[in-house]
Amino acid sequence: MTGGFRFRLTGRTPPLDVEGWRRRAGRRVPPMVWAYIENGADTERTLGENRSAYRDWYLNQRVLTRTTDVDLTTTVAGTRLDLPVAVAPVGLAGAAHWHGDLGLARAAERSGTRMVLSSASTYSIEEVARGTDERHWFQLYPWGDRALTASLMDRARDSGFTALFVTVDVPVYGNRLRERRTGMGLPPTLTPRRVLQAALRPRWAYAYLRHRRTTLRNLVPDGTRGTAVESVTVQSENLTADIGWNDLEWIRSRWDGPLFVKGVLHPDDAERVVDLGADGVVVSNHGGRQLDAVQPTVRALPAVAQRVGHRAEVLVDGGIRSGADVAVALALGARACLVGRPAVYGLAGGGADGVAEVLRILREELVRNLTMMGVAASADLAPHHLTPAPR
Ligand code: FNR
Repeated sequence: MTGGFRFRLTGRTPPLDVEGWRRRAGRRVPPMVWAYIENGADTERTLGENRSAYRDWYLNQRVLTRTTDVDLTTTVAGTRLDLPVAVAPVGLAGAAHWHGDLGLARAAERSGTRMVLSSASTYSIEEVARGTDERHWFQLYPWGDRALTASLMDRARDSGFTALFVTVDVPVYGNRLRERRTGMGLPPTLTPRRVLQAALRPRWAYAYLRHRRTTLRNLVPDGTRGTAVESVTVQSENLTADIGWNDLEWIRSRWDGPLFVKGVLHPDDAERVVDLGADGVVVSNHGGRQLDAVQPTVRALPAVAQRVGHRAEVLVDGGIRSGADVAVALALGARACLVGRPAVYGLAGGGADGVAEVLRILREELVRNLTMMGVAASADLAPHHLTPAPR
């Protein structure tokens, strides 16, 4: 080592892991927005267990394996990815940072992966298509209003989105208590204290007032200022529990490209989805935001992968916060993972650059782990690379 020091004015290092980005994000956005990002449904048991269930597994270390140049490539929905981690759809991303969905998409493509654009995005389908270099994927809620659903599918197709992710775990909106307690309802309820809390995050408040990226622009296509509440109302009025298999059949018949169904936990549902012609499933419980007390996704994954993995692409999301978590998910049968909150932490903490940094950290962690596990390619991961931890 050559001698000498590097000199910095403060000792604060940039976040080194996803948890560091989480802490930074929590300092940057007002409590109302933070509650929206972080909270789960009801008791938040599933939210917590999505994370803790990864501790049920140990990674197997192997030595003297000459593992160099670890290969992380995979293919999802016909798109080659350089990283087996894509960005999950997150609604209202513009509340975290004005770069919003466009920042998520640009960071994903810079990182060799893709984003699933939420129906409830704060940049419209067309804005994201115009602002990006690669073709991304679109998430659709099967709205009660078929004309609205059809128009979103058409707009996504015409804008070049290549795959459709139909989210089926929101027949009703989950009971998210932290959100409700902090006034993130319809309309959001402001109090002098909440306004002051926002003002105390001047960087966020300034950008919010300047860019106002909180309108769900797909739902009020010409909407700009003043229509945020109106757009969220369109969304909530169109949520319906009155959707069934025939609706999925109808969506399948209207969409030519790859179709994934997101929000599947039961292998019987996964099988039926694939029988109906879906190309893949996302094992997901919506990040613990919908039905509380369901299984954590990493527990549900093996049975789904076993049932349909030979004829459909199986993805998983929920609680993935490190390269080690990604390795476990892939070993248990996922072709790739999606990350929701980690991407939003990056966005809130540093805009598109923050998201890219979170994805870089996950990549580095995964490469380092696979090197020490003696696994040359993430696609080779299999159950024998793991040991169950004693319960
Ligand atoms: C979501 N999620 C979600 N899913 C979806 O299909 N459409 C959506 O609009 C949203 N919106 C949304 C907002 C926020 C703030 C969060 C945190 C999540 C769920 C998301 O796609 C994904 O399933 C979970 O986020 C995965 O869990 P982790 O990675 O956040 O633990």
